Amino acid sequence: MAHPAPNNKRPINYLRLSVTDRCNLRCMYCMPEEGVDFVPHASILSYEEMLHLVRLSVLSGIRKVRLTGGEPLVRKGFISFLERLSRVEGLHEITLTTNGVLLKQYAEDIKKCGICRVNISLDSLKAEKFFRITGRDFFEKVREGIEKAESLGFNPIKINVVAMKGVNDDEILDFARLTFEKPYHVRFIEFMPVGERNAWTHDRFIPAEDILDEIRTLGELHPLVKNTTDGPAERYRLQGAKGEVGIIAALSNHFCHKCNRLRLTAEGHVRGCLFSDQEIDLKTPLREGKSDAYLTELLNMAIETKPEGHGLIKSAPRKCIRHMSSIGG
Ligand code: GTP
Ligand code: 5AD
Ligand code: SF4
Repeated sequence: MAHPAPNNKRPINYLRLSVTDRCNLRCMYCMPEEGVDFVPHASILSYEEMLHLVRLSVLSGIRKVRLTGGEPLVRKGFISFLERLSRVEGLHEITLTTNGVLLKQYAEDIKKCGICRVNISLDSLKAEKFFRITGRDFFEKVREGIEKAESLGFNPIKINVVAMKGVNDDEILDFARLTFEKPYHVRFIEFMPVGERNAWTHDRFIPAEDILDEIRTLGELHPLVKNTTDGPAERYRLQGAKGEVGIIAALSNHFCHKCNRLRLTAEGHVRGCLFSDQEIDLKTPLREGKSDAYLTELLNMAIETKPEGHGLIKSAPRKCIRHMSSIGG
């Protein structure tokens, strides 16, 4: 796909770091039951290598790191990595996106590292449907994980709901109502055609506008202002709610021109856009012992050549080759 001229004027201050491509769930929008061709362990960046690249990226303007996966909590040694990451100078914010299955077990350790914001994927409030979507019977574990995070004072707790027609669209209002009871930020994400073998079809896609229209039936929706390192969610509060609702219009609305994110894949490739398979390999030069100046040049090149848009909704939506689990969402 041809991209418009690159734009290097946006502040690129948010790095999404995928620490592993493995996962303990098999979400229908991400991974088939048999899994995907996982990257061999030796090809995955070591924690030491990740720390090195994060330190360099901070020198290039990164201020926020979001740890993603696959599922970050399944990688061995994750907590001690987190502890070391929290000591990297110049990083203002470290956050985590998790499926919540192991959150109850690790929430306290995460908090001890000074991290108190988590985004948790949860696409149904019903155990049976959770099983249908994720292929695993772990609804209770996720629910307990969220409760544990709440009891430890994690704030905000963001709940990511991938909206799919005929799958969980009957729960949009239940999720939105949850914000009256709980201070959660419930974010509805447009289903994206990422990965060759996900379940994306046109019929399952729900545009953000339709989701918002449905939520408006519950009351007045007040738009909220975004912070500079925020991701792509448009934020709102329902009149009288404790929490927020958010919309991530990944396909229909174009936040691309405002996108402040770079991605580092589990195998050490830096990627300017979720939907562009254009990547720069940082692992090979790092393992060859190339200088920090050289690696920084590559990082800056990724920042400068970050595509301005994906044009996915205009062209026929195609499926990106790489799987979401190895890019980190
Ligand atoms: P915060 O604002 O820090 O909470 O980040 P976030 O909302 O970007 O984080 P999260 O990992 O919870 O991602 C939520 C959804 O947004 C996921 O489905 C991501 O794939 C999607 N997303 C994040 N960044 C981008 C992006 O640059 N482009 C697109 N299309 N989707 C994105
Ligand atoms: N479409 C939309 N969101 C997705 N995620 C994973 N795959 C998709 C997809 N195809 C979301 C997960 C998680 C976040 C990192 O990305 O639900 O919350
Ligand atoms: Fe695992 Fe996240 Fe993919 Fe679900 S979306 S299979 S939790 S990596």
